[in-house]
Amino acid sequence: MEGKDMASSAMLSIASAGPSASAANCKASLRKTKIGSFDVRYMLGKAKGNPFLKSQCSGRVTMAVAVNVSRFEGIAMAPPDPILGVSEAFKADTNDMKLNLGVGAYRTEELQPYVLNVVKKVEKLMLERGEYKEYLPIEGLAAFNKVTAELLFGADNGVIKQGRVATVQGLSGTGSLRVAAAFIERYFPTAKVLISSPTWGNHKNIFNDARVPWSEYRYYDPKTVGLDFDGMISDIKAAPDGSFILLHGCAHNPTGIDPTPEQWEKIADVIQEKNHIPFFDVAYQGFASGSLDEDASSVRLFAARGLELLVAQSYSKNLGLYAERIGAINVVCSSSDAAARVKSQLKRIARPMYSNPPVHGARIVANVVGDPALFNEWKEEMEIMAGRIKNVRQKLFDSLSAKDKSGKDWSFILKQIGMFSFTGLNKAQSENMSNKWHVYMTKDGRISLAGLSLAKCDYLADGIIDSFYNVS
Ligand SMILES: Cc1ncc(COP(=O)(O)O)c(C=O)c1O
Repeated sequence: MEGKDMASSAMLSIASAGPSASAANCKASLRKTKIGSFDVRYMLGKAKGNPFLKSQCSGRVTMAVAVNVSRFEGIAMAPPDPILGVSEAFKADTNDMKLNLGVGAYRTEELQPYVLNVVKKVEKLMLERGEYKEYLPIEGLAAFNKVTAELLFGADNGVIKQGRVATVQGLSGTGSLRVAAAFIERYFPTAKVLISSPTWGNHKNIFNDARVPWSEYRYYDPKTVGLDFDGMISDIKAAPDGSFILLHGCAHNPTGIDPTPEQWEKIADVIQEKNHIPFFDVAYQGFASGSLDEDASSVRLFAARGLELLVAQSYSKNLGLYAERIGAINVVCSSSDAAARVKSQLKRIARPMYSNPPVHGARIVANVVGDPALFNEWKEEMEIMAGRIKNVRQKLFDSLSAKDKSGKDWSFILKQIGMFSFTGLNKAQSENMSNKWHVYMTKDGRISLAGLSLAKCDYLADGIIDSFYNVS
């Protein structure tokens, strides 16, 4: 290669590969190269500090170096998501008996995804009306924010009547939790969040990414496969005053174990005593018991005490709007004035994150909840969905009890509530379920009963018994 060509080739390579040329190895040959006013030393100097460099240089800088090495060389492969990764593994399995009990998504008895009839009806109405697709305000659709807070607290609740709830539409439950986490990080920088052990897998990611410190309170007792109520109370008591206590409003995920009404009262006592701030995650309103009011009773109990609290809501499960990303963050404040200020700050957090939320799901919820006839249709459909899950729960218990001759008591399955059952299977046993039985579930032993049919209960029971007794 002649002088000028070589010079431009080197320049191109350095420019393209940038820091990929290892400074130490390449320095000598490059110093000899005259590239007009191009500052080779400067580039090498910059390259020196790059920890991602892998040297390809053998005295000559070639085009091959430039095209083969990526700026992203140093980026490691992220592990699959513990919940959504299960669906990927399920898809790749070609066995006829395979079952996806990982993700908490409702399926019909034929194990098909389900769009609620009331949703289809409302979508048709929306299409006929020819609704626009303009941006929503940062806080979301006003009609949605109104009905969502009313659904949660009850329209007659003092917190609503006195204008003490700051409600901002969010990107479903996850996005609403994330905005709340950013709010905590910004306005309560010394506070920490207490989360249950175990909890929904994404809670830790959300607080980690928002840089909010968290620790766990005891919740699940493996000995009883029930609630470790004393442990929970003493950990909440031991937390620094003014901590945020994350509580699952109903249908605790992953355990399916909820406190009784009396236990909720005691939890509220301790939280009040310690000046903590309750932070509810309500992802299953109506799905746990089949009743929207009953499933909101924990939140309402705290609000009735005059406590300030946060509540993240999701319509993924109860309206089957998983992909519409519709939910809300509600902050109950002690005055309407404080609520207005809190709302303004929630909007300020949302604006640079995603600007404003999507409209379609918000309109569906506003129409369904805001119209008495459609609202009743929804409640009927929700009862049917919750009923199917209860039937499957009963059948799984019956199958396990009939097949397991050891006399083991499987009744904990019946005591759990909501979409999930925490089987008590450990990681190796859960892996056996996937590897040998083609039953895909999270490694903590959780199965989604919403993805199970009556017809598959016997097969699942065989897999659970085999894994439980033959894998340690
Ligand atoms: C406890 C809990 N919180 C929040 C969510 C958030 O769901 P989404 O973001 O789909 O509303 C889920 C979903 O599984 C959940 O189980």
